[in-house]
Amino acid sequence: MYLTKKEEKMLQGEFGEAISLAMQMLTKIGDIYNAKRMVEISSAHVLGHFGSLHKAGIIVLEKFAELNGKYQVPTTVDPASMDLERWREFKVPADYAENQLRLCRAHLKMGVTPIWSCTPYLHGNLPRFGEHISWAESSAVVFSNSVIGSRTNRETVGFEVAASIAGRTPEYGLHLRENRKGNVLVKIKPRDLRDIDYNTIGYIVGKEFGDKLPVLEGLPQGTETDQLKSMGAAMASTGAIPMCHVVGITPEARTLDEALQGDLPSDTMEIGNTELARVEQDISTTASGKIDLVAVGCPHCSLNEMRKLAILLQNKKIRESVAFWIYTSKCVEALARETGYADIIEASGARISTQTCAVVSPINLCGFKTVMTNSAKFANAIPAEHKVEVIYRKADECVKAAVRGKV
Ligand code: F3S
Repeated sequence: MYLTKKEEKMLQGEFGEAISLAMQMLTKIGDIYNAKRMVEISSAHVLGHFGSLHKAGIIVLEKFAELNGKYQVPTTVDPASMDLERWREFKVPADYAENQLRLCRAHLKMGVTPIWSCTPYLHGNLPRFGEHISWAESSAVVFSNSVIGSRTNRETVGFEVAASIAGRTPEYGLHLRENRKGNVLVKIKPRDLRDIDYNTIGYIVGKEFGDKLPVLEGLPQGTETDQLKSMGAAMASTGAIPMCHVVGITPEARTLDEALQGDLPSDTMEIGNTELARVEQDISTTASGKIDLVAVGCPHCSLNEMRKLAILLQNKKIRESVAFWIYTSKCVEALARETGYADIIEASGARISTQTCAVVSPINLCGFKTVMTNSAKFANAIPAEHKVEVIYRKADECVKAAVRGKV
């Protein structure tokens, strides 16, 4: 791979050991993928949950921090594996908490912006169209490529840290225009889609086209940002999709022809009301019964979603046997308090859980057996991660079930 004079010096250690180590990692990966050169990045989003990074993640991060590594571009961090202040309340064991806190300290030493959220684009880390970035967190990767039009691969753990410390990444994969060409077509037939339908569409597309770049035709112009956020998260969960083109919304997909870069799709599928209804039922691992936990906020709730939940929970009383946890960031929680939504939510017995979520934290320690959710990503990931049953329904049905204690 071609390196500039400055990059050669970075690799040789003239800019410090951390940058040299980062460049060694980046050039090795670049060579594997036949990258011709490096490109500068304007943003990074790094992983920070011990539940996924394990001890190996601590070793890598602490090594960079010991070598005095500093994030060179605005860098936010994904949720932790626990609420960082109230972890004792959530029965997180002390040794597990200490491992998580070691990860946090290393990130903070290197200058991370501690949003502890999977929605960096809602928290000031908002790159522009066409910019190269390095983001881990599969849901945020789809959002950046598909909604913003900034360019990132679906980074592996540690690589995004190296990219931020070096301020650059090898130019391969989705950094190149030709690799951003849509190659399969999904025709969405219904016109009056509900929030849950966007989740279900993402779930179907990820399952069907796990390693392709789908082009979605037929989504309304008025599709909300939160709906795009949930749909992308679901397709990145059931598949390894790093980007989709939503015709008329994705900046590189003003038309179908532009999304396909003038080519024809290799495959086409249609999603109608019948498919949506069938898959919505099939996602649940059990259809009815007692529920222990309602988990909403995947990806982390925006303020608008908090508002919708406050409306649903107003004057309701959640049954004592049911935990109702809404996952979000500290920033959104603060706004929910300021606006009064948090008071309404908490008066119902629901709780706002910040900095973490039901997938990356050890919720199995609380003894839950059946979890109900309105998120297709949660519904796909929670049973595998925590060996529990899951029931997937609309948010208003989740609230009704939480009040009754069962479905
Ligand atoms: Fe975010 Fe956790 Fe979902 S990290 S995307 S809320 S699985």
